[in-house]
Amino acid sequence: MTIGIDKIGFATSPYVLRLEDLATARDTDPEKLSKGLLLKEQSVAPITEDIVTLAATAADDILTDEDKEAIDMVILATESGIDQSKAAAVFVHGLLDIQPFARSFEMKEACYAATAALDYAKLHVEKFPQSKVLVIASDIAKYGIGTPGEPTQGAGAVAMLISHNPRILSFNDDNVAQTRDVMDFWRPNYATTPFVNGIYSTQQYLDSLKTTWAEYQKRTGLALTDFAAVCFHLPYPKLALKGLKKILDKSLSEEKKDQLQYNFDQSILYSQRVGNIYTGSLFLGLLSLLENQPQLKAGDRIALFSYGSGAVSEIFSANLVPGFEQLLDHKRMEKLDQRTVLSVADYERLFYEEVDLDPSGNQVFEPATHQTFALTEIKEHQRTYQKVEK
Ligand code: HMG
Repeated sequence: MTIGIDKIGFATSPYVLRLEDLATARDTDPEKLSKGLLLKEQSVAPITEDIVTLAATAADDILTDEDKEAIDMVILATESGIDQSKAAAVFVHGLLDIQPFARSFEMKEACYAATAALDYAKLHVEKFPQSKVLVIASDIAKYGIGTPGEPTQGAGAVAMLISHNPRILSFNDDNVAQTRDVMDFWRPNYATTPFVNGIYSTQQYLDSLKTTWAEYQKRTGLALTDFAAVCFHLPYPKLALKGLKKILDKSLSEEKKDQLQYNFDQSILYSQRVGNIYTGSLFLGLLSLLENQPQLKAGDRIALFSYGSGAVSEIFSANLVPGFEQLLDHKRMEKLDQRTVLSVADYERLFYEEVDLDPSGNQVFEPATHQTFALTEIKEHQRTYQKVEK
């Protein structure tokens, strides 16, 4: 039985900040961001957009009524939780009207959790072949005004429907994970933005890649020649490019190197315009590759490198299924063009906007234009979401 990704959807917030505007405001050379980090834009979320609304929008885009009857597990991977107790997956389950006899919960390990969620979904479908699992990676990356991480912020969610006989990618049983207890990026409960050892985090990312890739090759006997493409966690594309160069074997033919480089370039197109979406960013890279590389074909094997600070990393692979291109959205770039461009002043206003409850814990919100789902009210400390537009 093959198990894998049957459908994949994506949502981001309706506002965008151009990084050349940010560079000007921060008195930075724009080329530091466009060439040094390989970034162009970042999505900015208003207060009415959070991990629940992004996740519901990404999933709503791909699910049919039949899927909603078959889904018996909803896993939401995030590190931008909106409640310490209630899982965002429960809100999403309700908003999408998924049949009631489902298990819904949240998973966390920085940018890595969605990879663990996919593996759990795979095990579940292996045991219950008729079931479908909805895995959503949803995050809002906020580092802080004027911080080194500021240009790498972003917001978005990737929803994946996992089933048997998948129509996009079938997973291989080749996952190799690594855990190392390091403090490269973390956010204690009392902090709204993370603490970051920036350069150290890049070293941990690259060293985790190198050592996990070596172990993966040892255990599977596979080499880069077996892969059409490698997708990376994309905190910012330049770091992933360094990662690709680190694992490129000198003995590879020039043709193979060119193929991997070209496919890498296609895999970063969306992230360059959205920014880091933490748990979803590896899968946004995968989506970008699939939707922008017409030469990929059924049977091609794609490697995925997942990295979450703290740190857990994993390499696994999946094969393209015949007809996969019919399940994709080739108008995604046009949709990104439709976001409203913010001035730096407006971005900063949204960045600092916080919930401002009355003494009884109430506040009403006005959804931003072009939101599909929105936080519309907090009533006695209970968040209320609504579908506002199709
Ligand atoms: P920085 O201040 O941009 O660092 O911060 P920099 O001064 O090293 O510059 C970056 C690059 O721009 C360098 O290129 C410069 O040479 C180049 P490199 O040497 O790396 O090839 N540069 C220029 N290029 C062209 N024209 C110029 C110019 N000036 C400089 N004029 C840093 C970088 C990563 C520290 C910062 O962005 C940061 O703190 N980011 C957040 C942390 C992060 O993303 N870490 C990545 C690994 S950890 C991870 O992936 C997990 C994460 O997603 C969280 C999670 O798991 O939940 C973050």
